[in-house]
Amino acid sequence: MDGLIEEVAKLLANSKHAVVFTGAGISAESGIPTFRGQNGLWKRFDPEEVASIQGFMKNPKAFWNFARELILKTKAKPNAGHYAIAELEKIGIVKAVITQNIDMLHQKAGSSKVLELHGSLEFVDCLDCGKAYRWDDLIDKIERGEVSCDECGSPYLKPRIVFFGESLPKDVLSEAIEEAKKSDVFIVVGSSLQVYPAASIPFVAKESGAKLVIINVDPTDKDWLFDVVIYGKAGEILPKIVEKVKEYCHVK
Ligand code: APR
Ligand code: ZN
Repeated sequence: MDGLIEEVAKLLANSKHAVVFTGAGISAESGIPTFRGQNGLWKRFDPEEVASIQGFMKNPKAFWNFARELILKTKAKPNAGHYAIAELEKIGIVKAVITQNIDMLHQKAGSSKVLELHGSLEFVDCLDCGKAYRWDDLIDKIERGEVSCDECGSPYLKPRIVFFGESLPKDVLSEAIEEAKKSDVFIVVGSSLQVYPAASIPFVAKESGAKLVIINVDPTDKDWLFDVVIYGKAGEILPKIVEKVKEYCHVK
């Protein structure tokens, strides 16, 4: 494992444009359950019912129960993995974070260029009257299970996240593809790479000549694509990589 950590640290220290691509696994050590794997959310919830646009339009309450499970139960905070990535940006190595996560933990950890492919929970809109809410202002309604619009009473308060069946925000997706094309080191952290078009972005980096690294607890069916594969926890591995990078770059 140490040899692999050194190899990734050297790639980063010599890189010109490193990009990090994250999935639910980076937030697992913050207490937010992942979607797949042993106790993944999709074993306990039906994604069609709680995370598809058809399911939401049929029964928005199902999504809001799921959302309580997803974020509120943990009052999630960034973990060492998020902070390590933010530090790599601060020392000028990581130029962008592309994330599939909606939990805003990269920003809370200090990352500034974060491309949220699946949106985020930060804002919620009433689909009937257009009133906009901040997630934090809805927290006690979510906990009470009574999410409805103050203005018009509608139950259709929809967060600005991408539901299954919806397309990704075009500007964010094209910027993420641009970042992948410019990258010379592309690091995937905590993703099973099962959901498209997000899962096609590492291929774009590869085609553009980038060195690919994956840090994941479980093997994925795309590990063959990567130059370096490290099986383990992001919160343990990333800080070790950052320490080595700082040594190589003589950063305090
Ligand atoms: N450190 C690193 N990897 C981890 C950790 C950890 N502490 N814990 C879990 N993992 C790995 C798991 O092995 C798994 O392969 O993270 C991966 C998480 O995979 P998914 O749960 O499938 O999450 P993700 O790849 O982000 O899913 C993509 O699917 O349901 C949709 O919109 C949802 O954005 C999500 C998308
Ligand atoms: Zn309304």
